Amino acid sequence: MWYLYAFFLGFFPTTAPLVLESGVGRLPALGWNSWNAYHCDISESQFLTAAQKFIDLGLKDAGYEYVNIDDCWQVKDRRDNKTNRLIPDPDRFPDGIHSTAKKIHDLGLKIGIYSSAGTLTCAGYQASIGYESIDAAQWAEWEIDYLKYDNCNVPHNWTDPCRGCVPERRGDLVNGTCTSASGMCPSGFDYSNSLTAERFRIMRDALLAQNRTILYSLCEWGEAGVQQWGNSTGSSWRMSGDIEPTWQRVLDILNQNSFYLNNVDFWGHSDADMLEVGNGLSIQESRSHFALWAAMKSPLLIGTDLARIASDQLEVLKNKYLLGFNQDPVYGAPAKPYKWGTNPDWTFNASYPAEYWSGASTAGTLVLMFNPYSDAKNKTADFKEIPELKKGGSYQVKDIWSGRDLGCITGKINVEVEGHDTVGLLMTRECSGRLGRLGARGLGFFGNW
Ligand SMILES: *[C@@H]1O[C@H](CO)[C@@H](O)[C@H](O)[C@H]1NC(C)=O
Ligand SMILES: *[C@@H]1O[C@H](CO)[C@@H](O)[C@H](O)[C@H]1NC(C)=O
Ligand SMILES: *[C@@H]1O[C@H](CO)[C@@H](O)[C@H](O)[C@H]1NC(C)=O
Ligand SMILES: *[C@@H]1O[C@H](CO)[C@@H](O)[C@H](O)[C@H]1NC(C)=O
Ligand SMILES: *[C@@H]1O[C@H](CO)[C@@H](O)[C@H](O)[C@H]1NC(C)=O
Ligand SMILES: *[C@@H]1O[C@H](CO)[C@@H](O)[C@H](O)[C@H]1NC(C)=O
Ligand SMILES: *[C@@H]1O[C@H](CO)[C@@H](O)[C@H](O)[C@H]1NC(C)=O
Repeated sequence: MWYLYAFFLGFFPTTAPLVLESGVGRLPALGWNSWNAYHCDISESQFLTAAQKFIDLGLKDAGYEYVNIDDCWQVKDRRDNKTNRLIPDPDRFPDGIHSTAKKIHDLGLKIGIYSSAGTLTCAGYQASIGYESIDAAQWAEWEIDYLKYDNCNVPHNWTDPCRGCVPERRGDLVNGTCTSASGMCPSGFDYSNSLTAERFRIMRDALLAQNRTILYSLCEWGEAGVQQWGNSTGSSWRMSGDIEPTWQRVLDILNQNSFYLNNVDFWGHSDADMLEVGNGLSIQESRSHFALWAAMKSPLLIGTDLARIASDQLEVLKNKYLLGFNQDPVYGAPAKPYKWGTNPDWTFNASYPAEYWSGASTAGTLVLMFNPYSDAKNKTADFKEIPELKKGGSYQVKDIWSGRDLGCITGKINVEVEGHDTVGLLMTRECSGRLGRLGARGLGFFGNW
């Protein structure tokens, strides 16, 4: 039987990644972006509030550093008629973007900006195609540190004659396998020669020509085989259309991205889109969303109003074990599914994605058990199934949500996982002795270890 996984991963060339100075882009970006919280309804004060909240809420200490402006920051309908430069909206940014950048830098943080590889942005503002060098020079002069580059309003002469497989597009998949759906490029097509790849490379080169390190985040929605050329073009690349603050959309993106993880390592990250933690997901859903995004080594960009975030949702965003895994300086590969759960392994299913995940890190092996159902389920982390662990081994285990040590555990761990929740275990080291602490029972762990 053919599965999507085999299809997608079979032909990835190994290309040199985009390597920036000072390690910028080596690890997934951590920060905040205005879009999920405010869409176009932005002004400087929201960015300064987010930056101040990074400090007050301990997010900066936890590693978050980028405060990113999304769409709608510029005058909508024209560039400067002498210099062809973009003009910051004088109502939203009365002192200009450079002034905002200085205030954010003064807090020891970095600032990001947004444009599109088209004639207009997604919200219809001036965008960068044909003006890449002017815009990159402008952002460098403003001391910008990060660019999110979108894919809206592509001119006709820049539109590829055929397109790549996008798993979420209706008709592209049959039984989980890419097909030759209408308009799709033939199998074996080299997408690094596509006009799409070229549009994104022009901006990469314009940024690299500046005397400033600017992290380059591609937002081209997983189209035109970005898995083939994303690594050599940007520090991260979106792999799907936009996230929404709904459980189904989180599941859907998780399912798709779980098939792209062989393609992630230092300097190149598959971007599962910005976080919706704090935007109406239950605490269980937020835990799953954040744990799996962190484990997949997606960039982690908070997308909520930090002045109003509930303390339990904030604690999810600050989880030191998950952030430690996401930012591990030694292990670049993400956690991956070792078993699916509801469906057979490697099944593509937007409602029941992979449920059992593991990955290596400096702190030990991270194991996640995810429950896609709305009611509680009992799950077992069986050490012999987990590739990083020894069959029948004993491990010192920590519960990542409570931080509690569960003791030295042999063979397997049984746990009841609440609906839509994810249990996370960190196997910190091998140990001898076989009894876990009885106190662990109170956390939903049970069984006879
Ligand atoms: C991206 O570059 C890194 C560093 O060279 C490499 O480890 C990784 O395999 C590359 N990924 C792809 C898909 O080529
Ligand atoms: C250029 O823009 C300025 C400022 O909006 C305006 O006053 C001027 O008339 C414009 N010049 C032309 C030639 O459009
Ligand atoms: C599309 O047209 C513009 C404007 O004439 C030109 O600068 C650009 O090079 C063209 N793009 C391609 C891919 O030919
Ligand atoms: C999809 O899978 C089902 C069940 O295995 C099979 O009956 C059907 O023929 C497959 N469809 C295609 C188009 O391959
Ligand atoms: C580049 O920037 C650095 C620090 O901002 C500055 O010292 C240096 O002179 C600049 N170099 C050029 C060629 O502009
Ligand atoms: C997804 O998995 C569920 C549970 O096995 C199954 O009922 C459903 O038909 C699957 N959906 C698709 C689109 O394969
Ligand atoms: C999980 O197993 C425990 C112990 O056997 C049992 O008490 C509990 O009801 C089970 N939970 C579910 C959701 O099946």
